[in-house]
Amino acid sequence: MEKVLITGGAGFIGSNLARELSEEYEIYIVDDFSMGNIENLSGIPNLFLEKASVIDKKIMRRILTKNQFTYIFHLAAIASVADSVERPLETHLVNFQSVLNLLELVREKQTKLKRLVFSSSAAVYGDEPTLPKSEESVIRPLTPYAIDKFAAEKYVLAYSNLYGVPTSAVRFFNVYGPKQNPNSPYSGVISILLDRCQRRVKGEEINFTIFGTGNQSRDFVYVSDVVSALKVVSESNDSVGEVYNIGTGKATSLNELVKFISTITNSNIPIEYKEAREGDIPDSIADITKLRELGYKGKYDVEKGLTEYIGSYGKKS
Ligand code: UD1
Repeated sequence: MEKVLITGGAGFIGSNLARELSEEYEIYIVDDFSMGNIENLSGIPNLFLEKASVIDKKIMRRILTKNQFTYIFHLAAIASVADSVERPLETHLVNFQSVLNLLELVREKQTKLKRLVFSSSAAVYGDEPTLPKSEESVIRPLTPYAIDKFAAEKYVLAYSNLYGVPTSAVRFFNVYGPKQNPNSPYSGVISILLDRCQRRVKGEEINFTIFGTGNQSRDFVYVSDVVSALKVVSESNDSVGEVYNIGTGKATSLNELVKFISTITNSNIPIEYKEAREGDIPDSIADITKLRELGYKGKYDVEKGLTEYIGSYGKKS
């Protein structure tokens, strides 16, 4: 069986990708379980798990020396923007340095690689207000997280031009779905909202806090669509050395989300409004023309994605 390496494979997106690819490949995961969870991987066949940080050079060298991978998905990251503002040096090691280490190892050791896909973020667009964001839009990274993602993205794509390493990068918009960890205040808003609604249904006295007016909107993309987009990007011959937005091309406001999720979970969640978070952008929306040109077709609008996500909790109403 051919092999796929997924860094951050015990996390939200990585574990969904691992499950999907495990039907066809042996899956190697490197994850330090800082945000990931072993339960996310339950029942996945053909799995080799290395509990380690991607900044551990020795372990990464061992894995990339012992195995030849067909695909590598670098999803490991400290995904909290706020954390990167608090601890720029530590997050830089994970969000940037690990990428460069990996690229060097791949250049040296991997001879059968069809593609390395690096996960970047819509954060690279920053607060420049023109919408929707295409891959050619102005880049204005404002935080250590966004700066690291952009720099790493550039390195990843340069390795294709300079050394012939087959690479692609993707910029995730607001991904949601099963296995997303709701436990940090900076977790994805849908995971937090759904967690609060479920707890409310179970009888907890709990609110949901909206920072700002709730009119802010985001391009929320369901994780199953993200997994198909990652497959399309990794398998296409045209995507070598290229970067792609992964979103839906449609935006939904926070107020619309609350209304939909509160109704479908029957939770009637009380809302508390607080001041907008510093640096919060009003709206975000992806132009996914470039991704579509590779043959990608999203299957989930936000209603369909949320309905499936809520159903997967086993508590539809
Ligand atoms: C997302 C990414 C972030 C990236 C940014 C750039 C996630 C989890 N975060 O942040 O890494 O830098 O896009 O495009 O995908 N909110 C509430 N209540 C809450 C939590 C959030 O009102 O309890 C609000 C936020 O203030 C924000 C919106 O909901 O206005 C969405 O928040 P969040 O899910 O954290 O995503 P982004 O801020 O878009």
